[in-house]
Amino acid sequence: MTRSYRFPDDFLWGAATSAYQIEGSPLADGAGPSIWERFAHTPGMMHNGDTGDVACDHYRRYREDVQLMKALGLAGYRFSINWARVLPEGTGRVNPKGLDFYSRLVDELLESGIAPHATLFHWDLPAALDDRGGWLNRDIAHWFAEYAQVMFKALDDRVKHWTTLNEPWVVTDGGYLLGGVAPGHRSKYEAPLAAHNLMRASGAGIQAYRAHGRHQVGVVFNIEPKYPATESPEDLAATRRAHAYMNEQFADPALLGSYPPELKEIFGDAWPDFPAGDFELTCQRPDFVGINYYTRAVVRHDPAQYPLKASPVRQPQATYTETGWEVYPQGLTDTLTWFKGRYGDLPLYVTENGAAFYDPPVAEGEVLEDPLRTGYLRKHLKALHAAIEAGVNLKGYYAWSLLDNLEWSLGYAKRFGLYHVDFATQKRTPKASAKLYAQVIASNGAALDD
Ligand code: BGC
Repeated sequence: MTRSYRFPDDFLWGAATSAYQIEGSPLADGAGPSIWERFAHTPGMMHNGDTGDVACDHYRRYREDVQLMKALGLAGYRFSINWARVLPEGTGRVNPKGLDFYSRLVDELLESGIAPHATLFHWDLPAALDDRGGWLNRDIAHWFAEYAQVMFKALDDRVKHWTTLNEPWVVTDGGYLLGGVAPGHRSKYEAPLAAHNLMRASGAGIQAYRAHGRHQVGVVFNIEPKYPATESPEDLAATRRAHAYMNEQFADPALLGSYPPELKEIFGDAWPDFPAGDFELTCQRPDFVGINYYTRAVVRHDPAQYPLKASPVRQPQATYTETGWEVYPQGLTDTLTWFKGRYGDLPLYVTENGAAFYDPPVAEGEVLEDPLRTGYLRKHLKALHAAIEAGVNLKGYYAWSLLDNLEWSLGYAKRFGLYHVDFATQKRTPKASAKLYAQVIASNGAALDD
């Protein structure tokens, strides 16, 4: 029996990147340092001592990279803005050269018929703001709104999709609880404060957009569905907590104006009593929500880690990526349908989805074969189609990532790109997954037909 995977006619096919991961030249043309610039230059923080100093050299090669997007047939490109390029001190003085880079990028995209989707915060907080307490300082909601206004005024005539924050969970879990990403703190007292201020800032950014913008603004969450290892009451409760901690801690204040009750159990005396008035700010209705989906977790209660964490259970028959994530396409369908059920019928985008599998540092030939990534892409696009069939109002998909890039503290060793990057020469080579994606785009999904 044949199955058709045609997508709706207006479905937007895109790819995504972020500033620190691809741009390089982090201090060029008057930019201020970000916390990632600092973190990457702190000995011992990065795999192999890698930094974003050069990355994909996109700051200088952006025209060439837009041509790669064009070759794929992309209709949309999701990138992020390095706040400290535009406001070197985080607030106040605007650096015209930094602003100009993003303006030129947007023009280049539009000339190639690619719709820009700009993310205001993808983890590279200006270091000057970290010196004032960063996400722990409640004033950051105002600092963020000020920066957002600068960007809206400069680019909203050309950018029709804006995102306030990318994946606040990673910022708080990695940056404030476990310390594996910038700013590298380890405190269960700080993590909920940082999380709350992130969502206050996102709300303030959406408010600013209502005053200055004419198109659409949203927020991006990484959602990792949690499944219990067994039906035991302990595993079910641990699964519920893991889900509240990773998924609902951010989407609930943004979309429901409250926190799930499990967070009190998880954080104990470290969970603050937030002022009730804060939820008016966090709960600003976005025009869309972006969901980043990579994997799922199967959860088992672990007394040693209770109540903050639980143990993930490895699945013996599954494929795992190079970052140790189970390939589980059904989780994408489940996530999208769950999101609609809990938060209502908002327009949704999958704003990131992809996989790191081993590719050699040098690509030989015209196309680099990457069967595992190609398989991942094919299966996840089918899972996406299933979500649309189930009634999810899904508007588009951005593959992660356009290019191999700096996988944060894991450095350049983990490759997620549709295009291979030889970091010694900056040569870009399409992978077979890029070829498949181009066919899917050209046929609006029909290339996936069985
Ligand atoms: C982030 C990206 C990252 C990707 C793969 C997401 O958590 O938004 O910046 O490279 O996943 O780990």
